[in-house]
Amino acid sequence: MPKQPRTLESKDQFSSSGFILAAIGSAVGLGNMWKFPYITGMYGGAAFFLLFIVCLVAIGLPVLLAELTIGRGGRGSAASSFVKVGGNRAWGGMGMLSVIGAFMIMSFYAIIAGWTLYYAVRAFSGKLFTNPDYTGQFASFTSGYSPILWQVVVLALTAWIVARGVSGGIEKFNKVLIPGLLLLLVILMIRALTLPGAMDGVSFFLKPDFSKLTAESALVALGHAFFSLSLGMGAMLTYGSYVQKEQSLGSATLAIGGGDLLYALIAGLIIFPTTFSFGIDNAQGPGLVFMALPAAFSAMPFGSLFGGLFFILLAIAALTSTVSLLEVPVAYAMERLQWGRTRSVLLITAGCFLLGIPSALSFGAAPGLNFGGKAFFDWMDFLASNVLLPLGGLIVTLFAGYFWKSVGDEAGLSARWFRLWLFMLRYVAPVLVLFVFLHSAGIIKF
Ligand code: PHE
Repeated sequence: MPKQPRTLESKDQFSSSGFILAAIGSAVGLGNMWKFPYITGMYGGAAFFLLFIVCLVAIGLPVLLAELTIGRGGRGSAASSFVKVGGNRAWGGMGMLSVIGAFMIMSFYAIIAGWTLYYAVRAFSGKLFTNPDYTGQFASFTSGYSPILWQVVVLALTAWIVARGVSGGIEKFNKVLIPGLLLLLVILMIRALTLPGAMDGVSFFLKPDFSKLTAESALVALGHAFFSLSLGMGAMLTYGSYVQKEQSLGSATLAIGGGDLLYALIAGLIIFPTTFSFGIDNAQGPGLVFMALPAAFSAMPFGSLFGGLFFILLAIAALTSTVSLLEVPVAYAMERLQWGRTRSVLLITAGCFLLGIPSALSFGAAPGLNFGGKAFFDWMDFLASNVLLPLGGLIVTLFAGYFWKSVGDEAGLSARWFRLWLFMLRYVAPVLVLFVFLHSAGIIKF
């Protein structure tokens, strides 16, 4: 007898506050605290931040609502939900892209999350501050083999949470960690804002100078709005499939967008006052938080406490995102391959670990993993974040904007909001997302 398909009607669901916190947990991550500060430093400070807010509100929120609506309507995985709400199989095939994308992001995201755990332990123990050559410390750690060990710790924690299920694992864990994260962030923000010279950092971050903007900063801001809201990778779509029918998706979208913005704002109010106070260059790229901030913490009273707190906070934020990334392929495997949750979690985590190894070793441990001008890690990031993610976003906008005729019934917006939403999905978002895609894939240049 053929096995009964696991129906998703009977599946585990989020409570309404649990869903909002879990979705904020997915959105808030290394994107807010590691990537956002350094791209803001590179692409124009306050003017870039403003642009990011515009992209988040005008494009990010409509696409977020579309993902949640498709997920709740289909109650399936990131691939099957499209088919279940009335798309043909080709849409399911396109949805598969996001399942693959989530798996890929997970494989390298866990490595950076592992770095932050290592830094947290080193900071709390004070060892980080015994040698003031922070660039050298960063290089010697990332070019060795130990990042693999820390990646395993992150993957194991993620797997443990996801294996406990949606309401018993993902929701429970986010309900504790997301408010906890806010508390820690506020403590650090107060510390940063009371440093001498902190206000110069605040004005760099909040007083826009539009002459600093370029066409490139606009596209980076839009791409980042997508990454930061966890769009285009099936994460919000999968979480959407666990939302109760009574919950308002419109208000949830506003809460998630507002939450994401709040955490980015606070992260900026920690990093920039600190770098300005200590005369550290903001525009030094991805190493910013790992190389620059330890120098600042070492010169602060109770530096190892504040430094440790900062890196622990990064690790927590990363973990609430890796959980959402792992759930995407896990939900797919449970539905499509009929595997149980534990089995799906174990096998997929093992796959992420294997795919992560070359990324972890491409910072110097294995020179052969550096080819075509990029490290293996950067290739993975490029493919997932710059190609699959905007492509996934495009598929969502086209599906919800043109293909799924009764999208409005599931979204449950008032007539006015619905018209505005559809307009953004049909005419604005796809064009802009296409630009981001062509730009970030290197097809058009400015
Ligand atoms: N939004 C997460 C962050 O900002 C990253 C992420 C992207 C998570 C895509 C899930 C899906 O760190």
